[in-house]
Amino acid sequence: MGNDASIPDLAGRVALVTGGNAGIGFQTVKQLATHGAKVYLGARSESRAKQAIDSILSENQWITKDRLTWLPLDLSKPSNIVEAAQLLSSWEKRLDILINNAGVAADDFTTTAEGFESTIAVKQLLPLLKATASTTGSDVRIVTISSLAERFAPKYNNFATTKDLSDPGTTDPNNYTSRKAVFSRYGASKLANLLFTRELQRRLDEEDVKIIALAVDPGPVATDGGMGVFPGFLKPVLKMVMKSPDKGALPQLYCATAKEVANEPERYKGQLLTAPGKTNMGSDKSRNSELARSLWRITEEALRTVGI
Ligand SMILES: NC(=O)c1ccc[n+]([C@@H]2O[C@H](COP(=O)([O-])OP(=O)(O)OC[C@H]3O[C@@H](n4cnc5c(N)ncnc54)[C@H](OP(=O)(O)O)[C@@H]3O)[C@@H](O)[C@H]2O)c1
Repeated sequence: MGNDASIPDLAGRVALVTGGNAGIGFQTVKQLATHGAKVYLGARSESRAKQAIDSILSENQWITKDRLTWLPLDLSKPSNIVEAAQLLSSWEKRLDILINNAGVAADDFTTTAEGFESTIAVKQLLPLLKATASTTGSDVRIVTISSLAERFAPKYNNFATTKDLSDPGTTDPNNYTSRKAVFSRYGASKLANLLFTRELQRRLDEEDVKIIALAVDPGPVATDGGMGVFPGFLKPVLKMVMKSPDKGALPQLYCATAKEVANEPERYKGQLLTAPGKTNMGSDKSRNSELARSLWRITEEALRTVGI
């Protein structure tokens, strides 16, 4: 399949990309819009969102303004995620593509709950996604950006209790900002993204809902986030060896739009892709269905504690 994301004509389809103002998310928004979709760019900063939209519109003057809209969305605030989903549901009668793209590998320890945040977004948007899936000729996809770094998730964390959602990635409180702890936390969030995708697909299938959920590892991509985990002086070298953000967006664009996925749903449902058309097994842990169910259960428990 090479580098071709096989993006078909997307006229009439509605998409939301979280973290759409920068990096891989921005390139994804741009490609979806230039292929005809109506795209909501989920972002926490109005100025960064508007700048991203203006740059796409000025490069592609044939795209009408109503096809690119900022959706205010701060994933670190559960109540804000609910508000954003409500706003989008009041604006639109359909949502064909949801791309859970936003993500950080934060040095400071706050929480590893990034998977948890995507879960809130998906849960709140499920009625709209399901309504779309029940229409004739629908092809609804939920794509969550994970990473092969899921393997760095701490071995001891089995997502057994809600406390495991805010695992600092180390048992040493003096070491929360160490590289190892940062990678562990990032790994845990990316493992959660994968387990979430698998359990979501299992539940959708159980309910006989025609939606395909997929997870993606874009590979090493030269974005601020991708390079941010390495020391700053390496940036010029990293830019040469990592993928450009437009190439980095291809795997998620393939998952979100390629006809091949709709034509062969059993091959792709709940899977992790590392390139267009290329599935990857992921770690043993990521394929553990008990762990996936447990993560779902503790996430629901945690959501109840924040009133969702
Ligand atoms: N780049 C890589 O090498 C690589 C490899 C594997 C996986 N990934 C994954 O790919 C995805 C995209 O990463 P990227 O490399 O494009 O990173 P990036 O350039 O740092 O972009 C991250 C995006 O997420 C947004 N975001 C972060 N926290 C948010 C929040 N609380 N609320 C709303 N938006 C938020 C950022 O918005 P602001 O501008 O407001 O910060 C930005 O738009 C992430 O899930 C990342 O983990 C990346």
